[in-house]
Amino acid sequence: MAITIDQWELAEKCVGNLRRVLLYGPPGTGKTYGAMHYNLSADQPVYTNTLTEETPASELRGHFVMTDGSYKWMHGPAIRSWLDGARYVLNELDRASGDCHSFCYAVLDDHASAQLTLPNGDTVHPTDAASFVVTMNGTESDLPEALIDRMDAIIHITRPHPAAIAALPDDLRLIATEATSSDNPHLRTSIRKWFAFDAARQKMDTVHACVAVFGDKAQDVINAYELRARL
Ligand SMILES: Nc1ncnc2c1ncn2[C@@H]1O[C@H](COP(=O)(O)OP(=O)(O)OP(=O)(O)O)[C@@H](O)[C@H]1O
Ligand SMILES: [Mg+2]
Repeated sequence: MAITIDQWELAEKCVGNLRRVLLYGPPGTGKTYGAMHYNLSADQPVYTNTLTEETPASELRGHFVMTDGSYKWMHGPAIRSWLDGARYVLNELDRASGDCHSFCYAVLDDHASAQLTLPNGDTVHPTDAASFVVTMNGTESDLPEALIDRMDAIIHITRPHPAAIAALPDDLRLIATEATSSDNPHLRTSIRKWFAFDAARQKMDTVHACVAVFGDKAQDVINAYELRARL
């Protein structure tokens, strides 16, 4: 018998409780929100980076800055997360440069072997509380095998967290649930669009709000979800 476990139930158990967790899947499902909030201790800091092809590893590691005429070392968020026992959220790691990927081999190393000697001469290790959550839209094959291998849990998130749906007004919840899980690319919309639509319809009539938010998909959205009946 195949095991079936709810993806968000699993994510809520793993994020923060396991040291390194990867959440991947389509946009607007709540991966970053979950990465930043689940199982966070009251005083645990959260550091976040969203990576691009241009992000240098030094932005994560740290660099020297000129202060009062002399150079001083400034830790980047990766090293601070090690030292402060923080939650470190790395968004869009699949889009990062080879430079960042290689640096992340070290950041995400197993606790027993994680150690870095910084350009200022300090050798640093992660504290026990430090944990890491990677979020991205790509798939496992978009990350180097060595980074995938470092993950303690890899969870494919394909639909919005129920709490995100619940944060919508009553009349949009069912429509948004259907739209965010539709297999039809003409109809599929992320939950962000429904939050945006709710905000827009408070500033203008609902037809304009629908076209403004859903663009080319507006007619399909209206037809498919009988929004017209509500307009
Ligand atoms: N548990 C939740 N409770 C309330 N709102 C939520 C929850 N999860 C997500 N949201 C809301 O849903 C929207 C999308 O969430 P988020 O930015 O985390 O998505 P994502 O999966 O990281 O998307 P992307 O892949 O595009 O970065 C945000 O407006 C966020 O505040
Ligand atoms: Mg995100």
